[in-house]
Amino acid sequence: MKRFVAGEDLETALAVLARLRDAGLRTTVDLLGESVDSASGAAAAADDYVRLLDALQERQLDGNVSLKLTQMGLDLDRDLCLRNVARVVERARDTGAFVRIDMEDHTRTDATLAIARELHARYGNVGVVIQSYLRRSEADVEALIAERIRVRLCKGAYDEPASVAYATKAEVDESYLRLMERLLMEGTYPGIATHDERIIEQARAFTARESIGPDRYEFQMLYGVRRDLQGALVADGLAVRVYVPFGTAWYPYFLRRLAERPANLLFLLRSIARERRR
Ligand code: FDA
Repeated sequence: MKRFVAGEDLETALAVLARLRDAGLRTTVDLLGESVDSASGAAAAADDYVRLLDALQERQLDGNVSLKLTQMGLDLDRDLCLRNVARVVERARDTGAFVRIDMEDHTRTDATLAIARELHARYGNVGVVIQSYLRRSEADVEALIAERIRVRLCKGAYDEPASVAYATKAEVDESYLRLMERLLMEGTYPGIATHDERIIEQARAFTARESIGPDRYEFQMLYGVRRDLQGALVADGLAVRVYVPFGTAWYPYFLRRLAERPANLLFLLRSIARERRR
């Protein structure tokens, strides 16, 4: 668990953020939690984010957080969710921070985009995520470019039906490259979120060819994944933001990371065996 999650409490996470900053990395913090099933739970999650933003400001750490709408009550009531997220975004605006709304499974895409748009119009300091595995993403990217809303582009982490998502890695990657080029050309400070070296190479070649400077976009990677590559990009003068999750509700996040790469399961079993021997 420690490989992918920066601890269960705020203090431990703040120490990790400071260490990453000292290594030249930017960060976005995710206070783990999703699919909250009570109004009080959703309001408490928003309170926790407000406290997190205050702590980031106090310690002069990167003011950038990522959150999920189901953690803010999306499955209970859309307006309640909007009020909770608005509270977080307002505090982020007051502390000079930025809020990225993560994208969950395809049944939530419309609601997520609508809430991101509404908060962007109201406060400005909000961005959203687009998943290249969704067939609809080309149209969504064009709309977000026109609205000047910041996009993090990722491949997508949920198990989606073929009716809405590309099924093969080749199709997902091809879609990623198309959307990436559009965002690099016309988007507002896109986040190229991937650990795929081939795609990162293509991004570098494309930006060089089109004279797109390193101040116009950033790479983004997950905490604990390809630390070597994160360091190599920073050493080349490129901006890299690390997505740093922390908290006690780490189980679903952890399962998605394991599913992405079967070798992680082996890694997990080995470390369990090591701990048992201790
Ligand atoms: P791919 O899965 O093809 O992997 C390429 C290579 O990267 C692998 O060969 C391996 O070397 C390495 N790698 C990838 N995942 C690894 C892992 N877990 N452990 C070890 N090595 C790994 N998804 C989503 O649906 N909604 C969201 O909001 C976000 N947000 C988000 C933020 C950021 C900053 C990142 C980097 C990713 C996300 N994701 C996400 C997750 C994303 O959709 C995707 O599931 C993972 O990034 C894995 O895809 P890759 O692009 O890395 O490529």
